[in-house]
Amino acid sequence: MKVGIPIEVLGGETRVAATPETVKKLRALGLSVLVEHNAGLGSHFTDEAYHQAGAEIGDKERALGSDIVLKVHKPEPVEIEHMKNGAVVLSMMGLCHADDTLSLLAGKGVDAFALEMIPRISRAQAMDVLSSQSNIAGYRAVLEAARLYGRFFPMMMTSAGSAKPTRVVVLGAGVAGLQAIATARRLGAQVSAYDVRPEVKEQIMSLGAKFIEFDLGESGAGAGGYARQLSAEAQSRQQQLLTDELKKADIIISTALIPCRPAPVLITEQAVEGMHQGSVIVDMAAATGGNCPLTEANKTVTKHGVILCGITNFPALMPSDASAFYARNLFNFVTLMVTTTEGQVRMKDYLEDEITASSLVTYKGAVRFKEKK
Ligand SMILES: NC(=O)c1ccc[n+]([C@@H]2O[C@H](COP(=O)([O-])OP(=O)(O)OC[C@H]3O[C@@H](n4cnc5c(N)ncnc54)[C@H](O)[C@@H]3O)[C@@H](O)[C@H]2O)c1
Repeated sequence: MKVGIPIEVLGGETRVAATPETVKKLRALGLSVLVEHNAGLGSHFTDEAYHQAGAEIGDKERALGSDIVLKVHKPEPVEIEHMKNGAVVLSMMGLCHADDTLSLLAGKGVDAFALEMIPRISRAQAMDVLSSQSNIAGYRAVLEAARLYGRFFPMMMTSAGSAKPTRVVVLGAGVAGLQAIATARRLGAQVSAYDVRPEVKEQIMSLGAKFIEFDLGESGAGAGGYARQLSAEAQSRQQQLLTDELKKADIIISTALIPCRPAPVLITEQAVEGMHQGSVIVDMAAATGGNCPLTEANKTVTKHGVILCGITNFPALMPSDASAFYARNLFNFVTLMVTTTEGQVRMKDYLEDEITASSLVTYKGAVRFKEKK
């Protein structure tokens, strides 16, 4: 059984779905591996390194025509054309943006797993690509803020005078937000953080940050540990209360997301106007509209003297570790899917395990994924 690793075709993507480390592990499972020529270059893994790990180097068509195809982004129609009936593809599928990807995959008879659908249970943590990539994004976002901000993060006492510590506010304390808090603290900033789910208070405080607490008159906690959309009244109250709080911030890292919905607006134009010249907002929700309406996706702009950064793919800026983590997540998922009997690798029944069953979005020629309304 052959595993194929094609080059990612999405613009700006530097990650790859297998590394020499995971190729070695896939080979040890009894699988053969074909890596597209130069697939790892964006992440600094050479063909030679893959070859030494036991992979064959080949062209795109052969990588896509493998029994199991590993990808970072959902397959494009031109890629699906090369996939074969009965093949399996593992990838993030961008299911919130309805298009014909799943019907094309089902039409080809490809069984597709959407990695963002893996349930967030303890047993699945080693396969959780959302967490591994958000963790990297939260770290990288703070470095970007530090790069854009014209001042020190830590308090500095020098013979040329002293500098005050930077005040960082993190909005949304999920995986990315918690890593942003930890990273900003490591750089010496004074950090406070806010989330609409009150249960994160303890986690925020355990990282040495102050918890910003408001009474919105309703809870923002939704199903499965995710946030839910607030009523219009609560949203407007939240924006008003935050506007006062954000005036004190030198840097805002905003990470607030609601699954498959536009990002909530937490930083109004009025709040931006209240911030000082040269302050920085890194809006990690830029891909889904932004937590600030002034953010422009994939651009850094200055408005009312405030620098707004709208990078939408932070993991691609840390490609070696992002690929290493992602590839390990995928390898762990593959181990759940296959079994070896008498030296022969075969697929297990995907529907028997909660993790594979929940993430299987096309199966035996049919689309299995049901969009939540
Ligand atoms: N295996 C596991 O058990 C596991 C792994 C990772 C995450 N999780 C849980 O999954 C959940 C989602 O985490 P995530 O990082 O994917 O979150 P996410 O990326 O979906 O959202 C980021 C954060 O934004 C917050 N947010 C949304 N709307 C907001 C608003 N209006 N104001 C302020 N904050 C707002 C959310 O509460 C969340 O903390 C969390 O409960 C997390 O603990 C569990």
